[in-house]
Amino acid sequence: MATWNLTKTEHHILICNGSSCKKAGAEALTQSIRSEIAEKGLDPVIHTSRTLCNGRCHDKCVLISYPVGRWYKEMTSADAPRFIEGLITGDGMEEKISHSYNGACFEPTAGTVLGIEKDEKIVEKVSKKL
Ligand code: FES
Repeated sequence: MATWNLTKTEHHILICNGSSCKKAGAEALTQSIRSEIAEKGLDPVIHTSRTLCNGRCHDKCVLISYPVGRWYKEMTSADAPRFIEGLITGDGMEEKISHSYNGACFEPTAGTVLGIEKDEKIVEKVSKKL
């Protein structure tokens, strides 16, 4: 158990460790991201959290960056050095971004699978109960 002081934290990285992402290398990605942060002395500035499924399994491995509000897709351990460098320099690995927050919602990038409409799923569930 740990209680980190976050007062110097500028970036929070959520690394999906749900089952689909794990099968696609999430453990190696998590270790590579954390090693890169440690090697660069960025632990006070970048906080990471493992998560369970984020609901975008098609995009495995999924990584989410706040407060900028970017979702990344198809991340591998080989992406860790460039990703961490990009957080500091502002080079955001554009080709791996699946969604970006535009101030109102998350916009998908070109080529990103849209997925199931949440409204339709709710209607489907309610219909089955009736
Ligand atoms: S397991 Fe990562 S998004 Fe579902």
